[in-house]
Amino acid sequence: MADRQPLFKRVAVIGLGLIGGSLASAIRKHKLAERVTGFDQRADELAMGVDLGVIDEAAASLEQAVKGSDLVVLAVPVRATRTVLEQIRPWLGQDTVLSDVGSTKSSFVHDVKEVFGELSPRVIPGHPIAGSEKSGIRAANPDLFANHKVILTPADNADGVSVARLKDLWEGTGATVLTMSVAYHDEVLAATSHLPHLIAFSLVDTLAGEDENMDIFRYAAGGFRDFTRIAASDPVMWHDIFLSNRDAVLRVIDHFTQDLDQLRGAIASGDGATLLRVFSRAKAAREHFSKMLSGQAYVTNNSDHQVIFHMQPGGSVRGDIRVPGDKSMSHRSIMLGALAEGTTEVKGFLEGEDSLATLQAFRDMGVTIEGPEDGFVRIHGVGMHGLQAPRGPLYLGNSGTAMRLFSGLLAAQPFDSELTGDASLSKRPMGRVADPLRAMGAVIDTAEGGRPPLKIRGGQVLNGIHYDMPVASAQVKSCLLLAGLYAEGVTSVTEPAPTRDHTERMLEGFGYHVHRDGATASVSGGGKLTACAIDVPADISSAAFFLVAATIAPDSDLTLRHVGMNPTRVGVINILRQMGANIEVLEERVIGGEPVADLRVRSAELNGIDIPEDQVPLAIDEFPVLFIAATCAKGRTVLRGAEELRVKESDRIQVMADGLAALGVETTVTPDGIIIEGGQTIGGGTVESHEDHRISMSFAVASLRANGPIRINDCSNVATSFPGFVELAKQTGIHISTEGTS
Ligand code: S3P
Repeated sequence: MADRQPLFKRVAVIGLGLIGGSLASAIRKHKLAERVTGFDQRADELAMGVDLGVIDEAAASLEQAVKGSDLVVLAVPVRATRTVLEQIRPWLGQDTVLSDVGSTKSSFVHDVKEVFGELSPRVIPGHPIAGSEKSGIRAANPDLFANHKVILTPADNADGVSVARLKDLWEGTGATVLTMSVAYHDEVLAATSHLPHLIAFSLVDTLAGEDENMDIFRYAAGGFRDFTRIAASDPVMWHDIFLSNRDAVLRVIDHFTQDLDQLRGAIASGDGATLLRVFSRAKAAREHFSKMLSGQAYVTNNSDHQVIFHMQPGGSVRGDIRVPGDKSMSHRSIMLGALAEGTTEVKGFLEGEDSLATLQAFRDMGVTIEGPEDGFVRIHGVGMHGLQAPRGPLYLGNSGTAMRLFSGLLAAQPFDSELTGDASLSKRPMGRVADPLRAMGAVIDTAEGGRPPLKIRGGQVLNGIHYDMPVASAQVKSCLLLAGLYAEGVTSVTEPAPTRDHTERMLEGFGYHVHRDGATASVSGGGKLTACAIDVPADISSAAFFLVAATIAPDSDLTLRHVGMNPTRVGVINILRQMGANIEVLEERVIGGEPVADLRVRSAELNGIDIPEDQVPLAIDEFPVLFIAATCAKGRTVLRGAEELRVKESDRIQVMADGLAALGVETTVTPDGIIIEGGQTIGGGTVESHEDHRISMSFAVASLRANGPIRINDCSNVATSFPGFVELAKQTGIHISTEGTS
């Protein structure tokens, strides 16, 4: 950056307040222009600009400032824009880029059109989202924009080169540049900046008007100080902003007034539930503030952050650990708890991004949920018919389970809803739930090929059906059973092979009878759920990484506590044992209707096997790490009947084969499985996880038997199912370090 060419020859900054002065000094500091000329009608500010080294030269007039400049930036109060534009008009060169820094963009565009008769392609409105309650050139700071956002709102006819130069200039100050439309900018700013300023001004003014104002201010606690800091902002500037962004501001004031009235009503009538609901929703929103900025929901996944795993080869795996709570049960505990009558308390809840997305979606539908705190969640159930329409689409991140189970629940609600997800979820097939739901009377639109988003029309009457599932899917089964709770008559589902039955077990726990007859589960609609206590065991799918790790690494001895041992989930143990693994099942017990045990696993020599097809649905999420086990085994392992793996968070057959190939391990991919000749050397190399959490963790395990370092790209999604994986892996002896943050 230091020895780059200046982007502009001469920049004129008109108005040397906090923002204008800071921009001028940032341009000088980073040598983004050859010269910076300043103009301000306040002669003392102008002189100080030179004295403080904020500008190279002070222009005696607007004419002098503008003539010969290839960039002119207006940093004047919004309401002065028009007058200044009129004054500079005669001197503005044909190729000069004109921009501004005002907080409202439609008023700037309006003024430009009034004065110039059109919006020339070289006019590019801008707005740095930086500032402070301080004003004036004395507060100018060349680092003010570093790590802040700058919004540019170029029109469709804007000159691309000029936009790029202006973008480079702002980036040169350390800012991140976003572009959006003028109208969108003004709406967003009305809500996020203008309304909070209005409330701060108004609150301080109200309190200052109270009789005991001296006392009020004297005793004002930190909360008051934090909340009202911005009431010390420049009154003239803010007066301008509110008058210039009138319509957008009025809309958000109306919205806020309504919500404030609702809180007033709740306090007046002693309606604690509403207060708790609003406050806990707001608390969660505030805590996930930065994530909210990147998506529409309170909780989004971190896939926009780069996380890389760096693995050093070798190691043994030892210790006594408990992996986080079961993902499938965590989702279901929130769903059923929300629809129950009474308060459901959940222990061991998985605080991963997938289950948090479910939790937040229910908050968005008006359910009060306290926590999670150390795996404890308290859900204030609203009953089968108590959900409220969410304000916008429900964003479900990476979670296929959430989207498929929600579709069943929401198909039966009186309101419309829309379900969206991240890039991976947006590619996954939803026709498998939408089709049978439509047969029940649901109205659901999907994007092309049955992909998300799902648009679900509310107010439909559902009728029970019998459905023979073409694929063995617990998600499809659960979706239909949940829709069946609301349907007329009986809804029954027959599965081609046993799949996880947490929905059935948990419904029984909530007092809702599920009739089970061989491969068929059925419910009669119209019943109710009664709150209960849930103890979520550790997730066997997360434990699987450590089962394989301790098996393949020499000299290992690891105990995994409180692992869920539901017979529909133990395929990984059956398969590993058949290959020769040494896994002891200790302290078997039943907790809340689910079997649980401690597992002790020690190093063992594995042999390749033909994986029995009936084990496939019982180990459906564990194949990526089982492929690592197969690579370390003696002889050939063959997997068949597992085409489902191709439509998980990634195509897990191909992505694993590609990753193994990158480490020098040859495999044969078949349409429904893979053939792995064991005993090949695992080399070092770079593996692409395709943002699939289970692929990332599987290759982390592979490093234990590799002969060189392994780099695994795109690992941020590990947080969807296994928060704390890296720490736990380190603790047990896996040589892992990370680059980037999640
Ligand atoms: C799940 C079911 C499985 C599994 C997923 C969780 C569930 O998906 O892969 O991780 O909680 O019901 P399918 O039902 O699509 O096989």
